[in-house]
Amino acid sequence: MKTQNLEKPWTDVELDQRAIAILRENEWGDYTLPTWGLYPYQWNWDSMFVALGFSEFDLDRAWREVETLFQGQWNNGMAAHIVFRRDDPSYFPGPKIWNSGQNPPTSGCSQPPVAATIVRDLYEADSEVGLPWLKMIFPKLMAWHRWFHTMRVISGGSAIAVTHPWESGRDNSPDWDLALSNVDPSGIAPYERRDIEHVDPAMRPTNEEYDRYLKLVEYGRESGWDHAHITREGPFAVADPGVSFILMRSDKDLLELAKILNAEDSAKEIKSWLYHAEEATDYLWSEELGAYAARDLRTDEHASGVSSVAFLSYYAGVSTPRRDAKLQATLRRILKATRFSLPSFDPEHPKFDARRYWRGPVWAIVNYMVARGLSEYGFEREARKLQVDTRAAIRESGFYEYFNPINGRGAGGNQFAWTAAIWLAWASPTTE
Ligand code: DGY
Repeated sequence: MKTQNLEKPWTDVELDQRAIAILRENEWGDYTLPTWGLYPYQWNWDSMFVALGFSEFDLDRAWREVETLFQGQWNNGMAAHIVFRRDDPSYFPGPKIWNSGQNPPTSGCSQPPVAATIVRDLYEADSEVGLPWLKMIFPKLMAWHRWFHTMRVISGGSAIAVTHPWESGRDNSPDWDLALSNVDPSGIAPYERRDIEHVDPAMRPTNEEYDRYLKLVEYGRESGWDHAHITREGPFAVADPGVSFILMRSDKDLLELAKILNAEDSAKEIKSWLYHAEEATDYLWSEELGAYAARDLRTDEHASGVSSVAFLSYYAGVSTPRRDAKLQATLRRILKATRFSLPSFDPEHPKFDARRYWRGPVWAIVNYMVARGLSEYGFEREARKLQVDTRAAIRESGFYEYFNPINGRGAGGNQFAWTAAIWLAWASPTTE
């Protein structure tokens, strides 16, 4: 059944069936492509949301998705942002450009560590089935989190750095504009973009941004992918509220998993990571913006506007009454500004662009995480709005990569695995 060929309005049951079909159609053995053409490999956080989607109807397959992601784990602990396994000409930059020296080939940076939280969800869905899987995956999660807490922290600080916009998962967010303007792209090897053969260029990053993305890959490759060096000395290091809050949440879930396994030494180590979380949160807070915001670790400058990931503080378990009052006012303002929430960047900021990737569009995965956190802190009305708006955008347009917050129109790739997964796990009325 192809939903796109059915008459609208699609029923929720048709959307449920189509979401399952998309996960199945995007499968490549035991891992899943975000979408054919545009992203023909295994992406880290995509894959973990896909596991959450699979857990709704095939728990064993969900665990295998997690297992395959960690086939791309480096000896230093990093779970890579892309696991290539093969070279597909429909994507650039492929394994040769990254030249990571890994087997299977991978990219040279990481991506937001949502895995531990999702592993806990899978375990809790069926602890008997989950226990052997958990025992196998737990040390890999520990090693990956340790990598973040050692390789992505600048000495004397506690904020987690991203050293490439791709590591944040939010490639062209205005959060990186300041730091990227300090990256000199001169001398990069000529290249040809492939993404704009699949998607309208108005929905993708600009060529100026791509030049800098490639420069940062060149820098990493020339350093032999020495992650500590790249974080300390490289041309780009920004504290990201997205990765920071997702890691804090995942650390807390990892601690619960350590308790289940009676892994006392691990629990102690995780507590020592969490000990620094408050300091990192202080670093990200911007009184001027009334929100947490990205901050350039080289210059200490904050981003000029508010991204949707600012509201992941609740998901991270971070709450202080004075800041929360301001953050809630900022959230209320942004929720009122567009028909479909949550825009990835403040719609009242001059850099907002309703169609361009992470500069305005709504992302189902972010809505899911923000709403989960809001709901845990009792902000049910706001959490419900995010769920209802995600549902409405998918009903309106189908399973697109992201959505225009003004009219709900789909943008980017279509038949997109993580949107299908979030529908199944959270946005579909049949989940209630
Ligand atoms: C891309 O190629 O657009 C990806 O977002 C990089 O991870």
